[in-house]
Amino acid sequence: MRLAGKSAIVTGGAGGIGRATSLAFAAEGARVAVVDLQQEAAEAVAAEIRAAGGEAIALGADVSAEADVERVVAAVVEAFGGVDVSFNNAGIIRRTTAVETTVEEWDRVFGVNVRGVFLMCKHVVPVMAAAVKGSIINTGSGWGLKGGGQAISYCASKGAVVNMTRALAIDHGPQGIRVNSINPGDVNTGMLRDEARQLGQETGSFLAEAAERPLRRMGEPAEIAAAVVWLASDESSYVTGTALVADGGGIA
Ligand code: NAI
Repeated sequence: MRLAGKSAIVTGGAGGIGRATSLAFAAEGARVAVVDLQQEAAEAVAAEIRAAGGEAIALGADVSAEADVERVVAAVVEAFGGVDVSFNNAGIIRRTTAVETTVEEWDRVFGVNVRGVFLMCKHVVPVMAAAVKGSIINTGSGWGLKGGGQAISYCASKGAVVNMTRALAIDHGPQGIRVNSINPGDVNTGMLRDEARQLGQETGSFLAEAAERPLRRMGEPAEIAAAVVWLASDESSYVTGTALVADGGGIA
């Protein structure tokens, strides 16, 4: 029970990595707020946690909208009495080059991936600072560190998440708040299937290509969740500003 007594927010909590992490947080004793654009799917994850004997609430919200983020943080403080852990994980991808990317698509990817993380941090930091403790984990990507093909807005947005995380760690370390990024490689979630669709590729061959790395397979959501649990827990008490990579062995 490495998160016993802690209150946690998971954005994108209805998706592959978010759901797995919500379940893992609850299994370690945390009370979990499952936040997602898809409210019904978030409610299903919260119900799964409660059925297993855990404590969870679900909140529908668009992390790119400040009013939604303010409502989420207020609701979690009301329900759980504070916020110890915020896993800012909601994200979207567009598989296009710079030439193919419209300004609207660029803005939407940055709205969710960058502004969403910024807004979550802006509103959870004061709550954590008042308690002089907290762990924030932002979801970057291997492509936020190295770049990747046909995903210009995504790569730029995830690079921003990685460096925003370092800047947050510098600003808020003195307030007892740790801020780290988790940077997955290809993980077996709906996002990969969406990418295959966007690129007009057959799903099976796209997933087979995603498995071409030293460990010879894609990651599973629970493997990312395990790393996030560690960053959320007091076991990582001297770790902040780091970009933790979980990608089966680095490939570009
Ligand atoms: P997913 O598509 O299964 O889950 C993403 C979730 O975010 C969905 O439930 C979606 O409804 C939610 N979401 C999207 N926009 C939102 C918004 N504006 N407000 C609130 N919720 C919103 O994808 P996955 O793979 O679980 O992705 C989670 C994070 O991991 C993302 O930030 C993604 O970029 C990142 N990531 C994923 C990798 C992969 O291979 N699956 C690799 C590297 C990073």
